[in-house]
Amino acid sequence: MAELIEVPAGLNGVAVTATKVGDVLGDEGFYHYRGRSATDLARTSSFEDVAALVLDEAGGPAADPAARALPAEVAAAFNGGRAPDLRSAISLLGAAIGTRPAIDLSPAERRADAVALISALPTLVASVHHRQVIEPRPELGHAADYLRMVTGVEAAPEVARALETYLILAIDHGFNSSTFTARVVASTGADVGACVAAGFCALTGPRHGAVQTRILDMFDAVAARLAQGDDAETWMKGELAAGRRLLGFGHAVYRTTDPRSVLLAEVLAAADPARHAIVAAVEEAGVKVLAGRRLRPNVDLYSSMLLDACGLPRPLFTATFAVSRVVGWCAHILEQAAEPKVIRPAAYYIGPPPRH
Ligand code: ACO
Repeated sequence: MAELIEVPAGLNGVAVTATKVGDVLGDEGFYHYRGRSATDLARTSSFEDVAALVLDEAGGPAADPAARALPAEVAAAFNGGRAPDLRSAISLLGAAIGTRPAIDLSPAERRADAVALISALPTLVASVHHRQVIEPRPELGHAADYLRMVTGVEAAPEVARALETYLILAIDHGFNSSTFTARVVASTGADVGACVAAGFCALTGPRHGAVQTRILDMFDAVAARLAQGDDAETWMKGELAAGRRLLGFGHAVYRTTDPRSVLLAEVLAAADPARHAIVAAVEEAGVKVLAGRRLRPNVDLYSSMLLDACGLPRPLFTATFAVSRVVGWCAHILEQAAEPKVIRPAAYYIGPPPRH
């Protein structure tokens, strides 16, 4: 048997490929998209412009307002009050866009499939949420129209911009689990929709994309304890003593402040000072309780409350993350699809001795 190379648990610190999409510099508290500071872009640019920058080096449109409406085959799944769940709906959307393996497509054809998925995902999320086909309004921006389709009303420009800031910040973030998953599937030559569906499934785990709603539950728990005259620090010490982690703190890569949390704190303070005050109190208490450990507030401490302040329902937080991260997945899928090697690692067998 060929000798296996042992790597750290979770592949931490193991570089498995090269990418031009972006990088996270954990010790510096900095991340970038194709060399440009992601937080600077989130302050100054539109979601559409940043998506175009991230998707590929050509920089052409990545989100096409004309492709926001659901394809007829997908819309048909909502007939008669029926509605697929989002996981199935993403699969349907991918299949409607094209099931020819990416390995058989030209780079331009793969890119077109990626743009079609990115463009229609907001409409798909809103339609699944309302259990009926929602019609987009292409004259609105990607973020503003998503918010309108979910809430049913056109938001004030500053609220739409707050959500857009979050969506820009969440487009890509190094070799996170869902991006890696999407790349593994892309390495097999599968179609772009299959790769995106796989990335979404990886995102739905609470260790990755599905922690935001739990953080709001934590705020509720802290608020309830405060109402009883307790303080946040005592509550947090109790959580740690019970062997639980403080949600919204710590990060696999950042060893200092998560730059996304800094910008989102600013945005939340401007959008909703009362909600910001709650998070700031939890942050202050958490930093004290975790003092001496390299566990700082992460993006989701503030993003959870910001999405709530924007009027998005809690069950849609992970889906909203996907509306943004689909751009990063597609950028990585296009990059991986151009590589000839399938990603196929190994495992140590530790079961009963094999019988030949
Ligand atoms: N509260 C208390 N202790 C923690 C926390 C936390 N939030 N995070 C990590 N630790 C502890 C671990 O128990 C471990 O302690 P040990 O060395 O005594 O065993 C040590 O810090 C290192 O923990 P790891 O699991 O190695 O940290 P890792 O970097 O792999 O995990 C993670 C990162 C999953 C984000 C973790 O910090 C965590 O669970 N945080 C809470 C959940 C959360 O906020 N998730 C959102 C992350 S942001 C995002 O993914 C978009």
